[in-house]
Amino acid sequence: STTVERDLKAAIRTIPDYPKPGILFRDITTLLSDAWAFRRTVDEMVQPWAGMKIDKVAGIEARGFILGGAVAHQVSAGFVPIRKKGKLPHKRVSIAYSLEYGLDEMEIHEDAVVAGERVILVDDLIATGGTAVGAVTLMRQLGAEVLAACFVIDLPDLGGADKLRQLDVPVRTVLTFDGH
Ligand code: PRP
Ligand code: MG
Repeated sequence: STTVERDLKAAIRTIPDYPKPGILFRDITTLLSDAWAFRRTVDEMVQPWAGMKIDKVAGIEARGFILGGAVAHQVSAGFVPIRKKGKLPHKRVSIAYSLEYGLDEMEIHEDAVVAGERVILVDDLIATGGTAVGAVTLMRQLGAEVLAACFVIDLPDLGGADKLRQLDVPVRTVLTFDGH
């Protein structure tokens, strides 16, 4: 890995046994609070699409909002939120998505993107991919062209990034943690 990757990785805090025994929680709050690390992470996330025309950045609640807002500003795109059920006031499109245990539902305003718009999806981390696959499906239901999905952290052993690639979504991740 490069020096930058190592430095960004060092800015992430790992909490053992959170939220339950056996889970290594990757805490990005320490990366976000470090001015250099935050800026560099956002730059790395968008690097392949720098200078391209992007209409919207879609951020996934909650941690995807922080990065998605910064990415949208960086690429001069609008920002649209994909929220957990029951939070959006206007007409919505919903989709069920799989979590580690069971199902949840996410929603987007039906007019958040217009058919044919070029969209980048942003979240902090991809693990099983249930969340991101749901978000891509929602975007495509509205007729968006999903240019890419960008994440700070990939947990490749959980297979989520591969699931997105199988859906023909280019995946950009800044850091990889092997193991679960
Ligand atoms: C975490 C993380 C991703 C998702 C990844 O969010 O922020 O959104 O899980 O997991 P997956 O690839 O297995 O779907 P979480 O649902 O914990 O909520 P939060 O962002 O609101 O904290
Ligand atoms: Mg999340």
